[in-house]
Amino acid sequence: MNGQIPEETIEDIRNSNDIVDVIGEYVQLKKQGRNYFGLCPFHGEKSPSFSVTQEKQIFHCFGCGKGGNVVTFLMELEGYNFYDALKQLADRSGKQLPESYQASNNSRQNQANQDVLRAYEWLTKLYHHLLRHTKEGKEGYQYLIDRGFTDELIDTFQLGFSPNSREFIVQFLEKKGFHPQTMVKAGLLSMNDQNQISDRFRGRVIFPIRNHLGKSVAFGGRSINGQEPKYLNSPESELFHKGTLLYNFDKARSTIRKEEAAVLFEGYMDVISAHKAGVHNGVATLGTSLTDAQAKLLRRYVDTVIICYDGDNAGLQATYKAAKTLKKAGCIVKVAVLPEGMDPDDFITQKGAERFKKEVIDVSDTYISFIMRFRKKDYNLKLEGDRIQYVESVLDELALIDRPVEREHYLKELANEFELSLDTLTQEILARRQKIRPKQDKIVQSSNTNMAKGPYKAKKLLPAFHNAERQLLAYMLKDNTIADKVKEELAGSFNIEEHQVIVTYLYAYYEEGHMPNVSHFLEQLPDDSVRSLVVQIAMMPIHEDISDREINDYIRLIRTENSDAVTIKSLQAEQKMAERQNDPLKAAQIAMKILEIRKQLKNSNH
Ligand code: GTP
Ligand code: MN
Repeated sequence: MNGQIPEETIEDIRNSNDIVDVIGEYVQLKKQGRNYFGLCPFHGEKSPSFSVTQEKQIFHCFGCGKGGNVVTFLMELEGYNFYDALKQLADRSGKQLPESYQASNNSRQNQANQDVLRAYEWLTKLYHHLLRHTKEGKEGYQYLIDRGFTDELIDTFQLGFSPNSREFIVQFLEKKGFHPQTMVKAGLLSMNDQNQISDRFRGRVIFPIRNHLGKSVAFGGRSINGQEPKYLNSPESELFHKGTLLYNFDKARSTIRKEEAAVLFEGYMDVISAHKAGVHNGVATLGTSLTDAQAKLLRRYVDTVIICYDGDNAGLQATYKAAKTLKKAGCIVKVAVLPEGMDPDDFITQKGAERFKKEVIDVSDTYISFIMRFRKKDYNLKLEGDRIQYVESVLDELALIDRPVEREHYLKELANEFELSLDTLTQEILARRQKIRPKQDKIVQSSNTNMAKGPYKAKKLLPAFHNAERQLLAYMLKDNTIADKVKEELAGSFNIEEHQVIVTYLYAYYEEGHMPNVSHFLEQLPDDSVRSLVVQIAMMPIHEDISDREINDYIRLIRTENSDAVTIKSLQAEQKMAERQNDPLKAAQIAMKILEIRKQLKNSNH
């Protein structure tokens, strides 16, 4: 699995990356007893059944069954190969991975992507350099300064400028060894009808779009002289998917964690402006509406997302849509309100950082207040009929709130505003809740089962010998002396095929002189399903000091099943022989014997 990277290097890197920290960067984990729990990043769920064990350095999802160690987590989640995962962990902990292994460990596709990443890195640096230090970039620089950007801000976000020349960038890339055709295919350069290759961003200020690891995977270019379109983005590519990426997520991640909230903007201008104003947990979509995938991504990190879109009608509509999407993903939604006709960047430029934080972010509306305000626009509240319809539509929303206190708060607000009796409104809500209750209860119930029974889900009613094998394996994973004993007495004769595979690898692992370490052991295993099974077994509760007698009991159970299986097999052979020899009586007698053994087995297993 790991090619020729030295074992010590891998171990060193793994040891310097605690699984709780690494997974914690992707999933919001809460400690519960000895384990950490969170929402599984591998399947959609509303209540946490994904657990991380610090002591064993492994993760396991009781919902979807995925499990592994810190390296396989990154492989699964980021789609990395082993080397890439290790590389990220090495970078994260300031360790070195020998470069020479890189080439041999990469597939061709991967190699192509690496090339594109390198090209983006070169171009990001070049555009930035041109903007900051050359006369070719002067007009871009001036544009940004006029818009209130500082050098520091320009450096932080690596903003750049693409000079107004057809060949410059093409030649630059070619000199660096990137073939123009390849660059066209990757979307870095564009080709016109006359097959002329050029830089699509010429004459524009460049906003590098970084992926969640901080690498440039696309550019946004803003025109500075009124040229249309105002913004131009790189085309979608293998490395750049607008629907799953959030601008600035890599930089905002840690602040999002710390402040327990993310701020969602409409454009990168707003993110950068907000950053200048001290709001460092801002991210933005890339010219599209918020997708389910982006909402889920945010949800994995935080409960609360503050939407801060433009204060015009389009912004309001987009806010409503994003709010619904975030709600669906399970977020607590808040909405920051901007004066009509202003976007966050305008507000900060005109009124300053302090006021932006105090008057916009800190006083953002709750989801329901926003909905109430939003719905109001559709009605003429001077008309009796409209008033009733409006109240009804708000009641529909309020009925979805589960906390009675919260419901009551808004009901009172509604009652006051429209001079209605609180009792009447409360009854209306109850009627509505009765209607939706069955559906909601079901959801709550099923997620509760998930949570409460999750850890025991794996405990199907297994035959006694099967359970014995799992228990024994759990002890063997924890204690190499037990593994030694089992090896002597049973060797590989476990009855379940997967268990045979596991013990074979486990014996070898201990023979190589390793001490018990599930997380490390996982890396020796050949495939995902075996790995998940080992994790599942390692998560089983076991006694701290198990007696020899118990171990012997397990071994005996496994052996009996074993010998019974052998007996049945040889009887079946005899039976066939008797049939072939035309001895139906003998064949029938043997069949009876087999039945008898099977029956006994059944009884002893339950
Ligand atoms: P400034 O006008 O520079 O202040 O930017 P803005 O953020 O106020 O722009 P706007 O609100 O118009 O757009 C928000 C986001 O939508 C931008 O960051 C872009 O991602 C995207 N966008 C806006 N205009 C265009 C366009 O013409 N083409 C494309 N592809 N995207 C656009
Ligand atoms: Mn703007």
